[in-house]
Amino acid sequence: MTSKTVAELLSQEVTLQDVTVKGWVRTFRANRFIALNDGSTINNIQCVVDFENFDEATLKRVTTGAAIHITGELVESQGKGQSVEIVVKTLEILGDSDPETYPIQPKKHSFEFLRENAHLRTRTNTFSAVMRLRSSLSFAVHKYFNENGFNYMHTPIITGSDAEGAGEMFKVSNLDAKTPPLKEDGSINYKEDFFGKETNLTVSGQLEAETYAMSLGKVYTFGPTFRAENSNTTRHLAEFWMIEPEVAFMDLDGNMDLAEDFMKSVLSYVLEHNKADLEFLDKRLLDEEKTKPQAERSEMSLIEKINFVVENNFKRVSYTEAIDILKNCKPNKKKKFNYIIEEWGADLQSEHERFLVEKHFKCPVILFDYPANIKAFYMRLNEDGKTVRAMDILFPGIGEMVGGSQREERLDVLKEKMKALDISEEELWWYLDLRKYGSAVHSGFGLGFERLVMFATGMGNIRDVIPFPRTPQNAEF
Ligand code: 4AD
Repeated sequence: MTSKTVAELLSQEVTLQDVTVKGWVRTFRANRFIALNDGSTINNIQCVVDFENFDEATLKRVTTGAAIHITGELVESQGKGQSVEIVVKTLEILGDSDPETYPIQPKKHSFEFLRENAHLRTRTNTFSAVMRLRSSLSFAVHKYFNENGFNYMHTPIITGSDAEGAGEMFKVSNLDAKTPPLKEDGSINYKEDFFGKETNLTVSGQLEAETYAMSLGKVYTFGPTFRAENSNTTRHLAEFWMIEPEVAFMDLDGNMDLAEDFMKSVLSYVLEHNKADLEFLDKRLLDEEKTKPQAERSEMSLIEKINFVVENNFKRVSYTEAIDILKNCKPNKKKKFNYIIEEWGADLQSEHERFLVEKHFKCPVILFDYPANIKAFYMRLNEDGKTVRAMDILFPGIGEMVGGSQREERLDVLKEKMKALDISEEELWWYLDLRKYGSAVHSGFGLGFERLVMFATGMGNIRDVIPFPRTPQNAEF
């Protein structure tokens, strides 16, 4: 008799004489009803025990959190709330739990408490649903690119370059921190370090992905990314996963089309394949919304929001248009924003992005053609000489989900830009080579995977959509 998962058993339409299932006890009610979960679905299977057939000592060990092995008969359920249940024949305790100290009691726990118990939090309904959705979304990402002719590329995690030029990097070194080798001027001599130069954890795989786009045509990366920014917000992690497609012969319009089509596709995938989890999270969010003042409540449920994104076009707005809207909007005029928008050129803060998507357009917005001086060096300069072919995709409730651009393919323009920003040509010689040999229009974007998971699950804190979050002062587990 092979073990079946709870998901398999619950989808059975016929009764089965002999079934076997293993899982963890969620509750044991009235010395008779075990709610068993094995992580295969949000739903538990009810296992009915006739206590007269089992010794008391064994039944005492059926406590919340214990791992058990059950054999029995799968029958139509007599009670409400489930279509089938198991009438237990044998019951084996695989691993005891301790009801006194087990942190995941069958009651409501705060997310803060569960973060401290992140090794056990996927034994709750909310976190198991979130992580199944995360897994499903990852699969949908690979499926989309695979079906659309992209090659999956593994870009290095240790790099010698700072792709974004923002300098927010974690150093990688095996030099003795107390007595590092020094140069004559007293600075650290990285020539003696492991790689013979300064190296960091990558902030983006883009620059390396460009090399493969310019040979394989369509590529994407999907890997861990590291940023040493001291941002203690609900949307920032020090270690997050980024999806970065890069495509040769594609301009910014093509890039916007790709990003929109991609996001709609992966969200449709989970709408179709993760119904039970989404319905659970939809209800969870609804309960959470009820605790907020009426004015702050969302007009749509989680599933409605996802459907809305899948079914409607993203609004495409230039930075210049966005500035006009922001300059003249109520919160700006009444000085409600922390950063007042006074003139063209201002860097948009999340309060402005959220105003645009949540209050003004009420849909995902693609902002494009940003001022050159607030964006990275590799973005293609427009004919106006002051804006670049950049795009950010902003989502309701999340803010920036995607950052991308058409890349500067002209060697002379790129060199000039690097010179102005003091970026060493020697260090990026290989990046410049792409512009020397067979250069062509190409574009790509980066999507922060956890922000996508936040949107798809309705979770409000990015720490709750990654198994073990890394944030300032926190690298437990
Ligand atoms: O806008 P960013 O910095 O773009 C890049 O790194 C480009 N090289 C991407 C490319 O064109 N290939 O980051 C891209 C996205 C952001 O829009 C955001 O969703 C996410 O990565 N992101 C973060 N997510 C979680 N925590 C952080 N600290 C993040 N920083 C960026």
